[in-house]
Amino acid sequence: MNRDFEFFNPTQVFFGRSAMENLAPVLSMYGENVLLAYGGGSIRKNGVYDQVMAVLKTCGKKVTEFAGIMPNPTYAKVLEGGALARACSADLILAVGGGSVIDCAKAVSIAAVEDGDLWTKYWLEKRQPDCDPIPVGAVLTMVGTGSEMDGDAVITNEETKFKTSCWDYAIYPRFAILNPEFTYSVPEYQMVSGIFDILSHIMEIYFSPDDEDNISDDFAEALMKSVIRNTAAALENPRDYTARSNLMWASSLALSGILSPGKREDWEVHQIQHQLGAYYDCAHGMGLAAISPAYYRLVYIYGLPKFRRFAINVWGIDPAGKGDLEVAMAGIDALADFIKESRMTPTLRALGIPDESRLEEIAKTCNLRKGGYHPLSHEEVLQILRESF
Ligand code: NZQ
Ligand code: ZN
Repeated sequence: MNRDFEFFNPTQVFFGRSAMENLAPVLSMYGENVLLAYGGGSIRKNGVYDQVMAVLKTCGKKVTEFAGIMPNPTYAKVLEGGALARACSADLILAVGGGSVIDCAKAVSIAAVEDGDLWTKYWLEKRQPDCDPIPVGAVLTMVGTGSEMDGDAVITNEETKFKTSCWDYAIYPRFAILNPEFTYSVPEYQMVSGIFDILSHIMEIYFSPDDEDNISDDFAEALMKSVIRNTAAALENPRDYTARSNLMWASSLALSGILSPGKREDWEVHQIQHQLGAYYDCAHGMGLAAISPAYYRLVYIYGLPKFRRFAINVWGIDPAGKGDLEVAMAGIDALADFIKESRMTPTLRALGIPDESRLEEIAKTCNLRKGGYHPLSHEEVLQILRESF
């Protein structure tokens, strides 16, 4: 671990079939006004809404509902939630859903206590909150983003067509209820989208310096192998508790900070996907799946030893009689095969993007990071988008 690091994760996690039993005791630590944040209604269909409401009622909470949070939540929705949280003097925002609901709740926790142009201050200039955000708690219903155990709030500004994240320790969920059974009702398309998101989070950290012998890379390989194994099991039987629980915990761990020590971190695939998402309202993980093979085929040469190691340790490629380039490329091919076999979207066309007319605009406005093995130019982003089409 040659690079110095800081590690801190303030989220208290309750995991398993009985996780909901912890909601009442944990709620007692907050005041009586609760803003209940949720999405388009899946929690009403699968019974999670009734379970949560029953606990809130038993605890004597005054509940105000903030419903209709859309996938890829917008800044306008954040401001709507902020106004609602103020009106009900929320003591706690309880987010029940996937990454979109939890991200929106985190953003609302700031919008509820601060006026002004929050978009510029927090999402564009990435400043630290100088306010005291309202505490957020999460009941997770879909895995992938890791939002339940991290400090990111990814929001789309529809007016300026830009999707980006604000991050701070102050907006980490204070607690997260993780019951893998709550994910049984997630449609297969969303399930595999979330699964690729997990893999991508791990790869964004893994495919970056430093590369000396370090725990983060070993841990990343173990997590990737677990995700790959359990994807097959969850596809075979969506109610396989072991598979669903491993995927859920892998998802939370991937962005919890535990993989980051010693790593510079890349995040370029996410930058491209986020900008794609600002133009086309697509499932986040599916966008990552469509872009990743083309991205890694372009950059692997700059991090060849690591891509070789990925092929051997994660995908079981036999290096005997093969050159380094061939082994490394076989690892990326195995990733592309996994995407197809797991019924993820292998191309942007399959994602529903009708034509290539806006790819140039997306490439031009895409944020460029310098954490990976090869800092991209906007022209290379366009090349990746075209190859992914
Ligand atoms: O609208 P609801 O009713 O919640 O339905 C959702 C939505 O339609 C549905 N769903 C969720 N749980 C379900 C369910 N349907 C049936 N049964 C259940 N148990 O699934 C659909 C997608 O949900 P969403 O929350 O949008 O998906 P996800 O968790 O993938 O979140 C995506 C958002 O998170 C951001 C993405 O950019 C995107 O905006 N990300 C957040 C990150 C973070 N906070 O750290 C990191 C990620 O890289 C990502 O950028
Ligand atoms: Zn992601």
